[in-house]
Amino acid sequence: MRAVRGPAPGPRTPRAIQLARVLSPGPDYVEHLHERYGDAFVLHFESRPWTVLAHPDLIREVFTARPEIVHAGEANEILRTALGAHSVLLLDGREHLRQRRLLLPPFHGERLAAQRASMERIAAERVRRFPPGRDFALRPHMTAITLEIILETILGTDAGDERAAMAAPLTGLLEWFGGRSSLLPSVMFGPDNRFVIQHQRRVLDPVFAELERLIARRRGSGGLEDREDVLSMLLLARDEDGTGLTDAELRDQLMTLMVAGHETTATALSWAFERLTRAPAALAQLEAEARGGAQRAYAEAVCRETLRLRPVLNNVLRTLQAPLEVGGVVYPKGVVLAPSIVLVHRRGDIYPDPLAFRPERWLGVTPGTYTWIPFGGGVRRCIGASFALQEMEVVLQAVARAVHLEPVGGDESPVPRFITSAPSRGGMVRVAA
Ligand code: HEM
Repeated sequence: MRAVRGPAPGPRTPRAIQLARVLSPGPDYVEHLHERYGDAFVLHFESRPWTVLAHPDLIREVFTARPEIVHAGEANEILRTALGAHSVLLLDGREHLRQRRLLLPPFHGERLAAQRASMERIAAERVRRFPPGRDFALRPHMTAITLEIILETILGTDAGDERAAMAAPLTGLLEWFGGRSSLLPSVMFGPDNRFVIQHQRRVLDPVFAELERLIARRRGSGGLEDREDVLSMLLLARDEDGTGLTDAELRDQLMTLMVAGHETTATALSWAFERLTRAPAALAQLEAEARGGAQRAYAEAVCRETLRLRPVLNNVLRTLQAPLEVGGVVYPKGVVLAPSIVLVHRRGDIYPDPLAFRPERWLGVTPGTYTWIPFGGGVRRCIGASFALQEMEVVLQAVARAVHLEPVGGDESPVPRFITSAPSRGGMVRVAA
């Protein structure tokens, strides 16, 4: 029999201390553990230990494992009250794949390209509101852009009363989600706790009510084939049996798209400018491309490099439903595997000078499926990846075309915000005179 070593046991410090160190700004702690323990090590800071994986070969084995064995939905249970039981983020197995297949088409190809003009107009309008002559955080502007884009391209609300009715409760909900402690009660007392549910329903119910009204109106309105918004396409989507999404499924998937797509994209954009304003040659090249015409290659490279060096999510999670062999080690049922996005992205053997922000490294290069993983992978890979990249690239160009931004203060550190890793001061900048 072959003797195989398991993952390194990892640090022996008490759980609370490991938690405090994991939540401290920047990835220094996990980087230190990676150096000390190697490409697979165990972290104890949650009720179940995580086995952190930091090598693309190990991560490939997890992402390509059978979906019945590697579940992702369980780790998102704390979101159940907010997203609903049908949410694609919470489901696993066949039902997950069914919902995912119905959701994917609006986020690709021509359908996605049709959203570009809306994204460009919304971004250009927002840049005009950057305050001249004073320091400001980009983050609120970036969240405003992503919210407007969701209202127009995903929900397809008509400008005017319909949009205003949806924007007010949605803004409250998304701000609540973005708070550091929004989900803490759910983590501490569980998603089924009566008080946790009551507390969350106060911000959720007005959004649910508005979404239900919107779905009913749109179902009854006809002409869905001629519309370009995601909701209309989802109303027309059918699986192989000819069955579409029910109203309850639609509501849950819309909530999921909004929550998954808002904070993440706004954070990525804030990071892009936090890095760019401290890399003057890269910013100058982006501005030259944006002001020069139809090219997008450099803006795309900036998106890739930002998501490499400052990934919005540091890791993804998979809970094993049966034993799985990864890197020659057989992990038993129940183990939580955590492919580490941030550690793979900082490997010097894949990315020379890994801590340097260098968009050029992406020019003419296709990102590797298991070496560039800001959107996770396998059958759980982010549904909105192409949408987010298009949105980022459009916003980067709109800003670079209109203004020259300067940094304010020193480098910002990544700090936890909801489940994301965001710039500590929200991306402070100033518009050059
Ligand atoms: C820069 C922005 C974004 C980042 C960094 C990001 C990242 C991620 C990651 C890491 C996952 C988990 C993948 C895994 O477990 O392997 C995920 C899942 C998901 N994302 Fe995104 N995301 C972004 C934007 C969006 C947008 C704009 C949408 C939709 C409008 C979206 C919708 C989703 C959905 C529905 C899932 C669940 C997929 C599933 O479980 O099958 N995301 N995203």
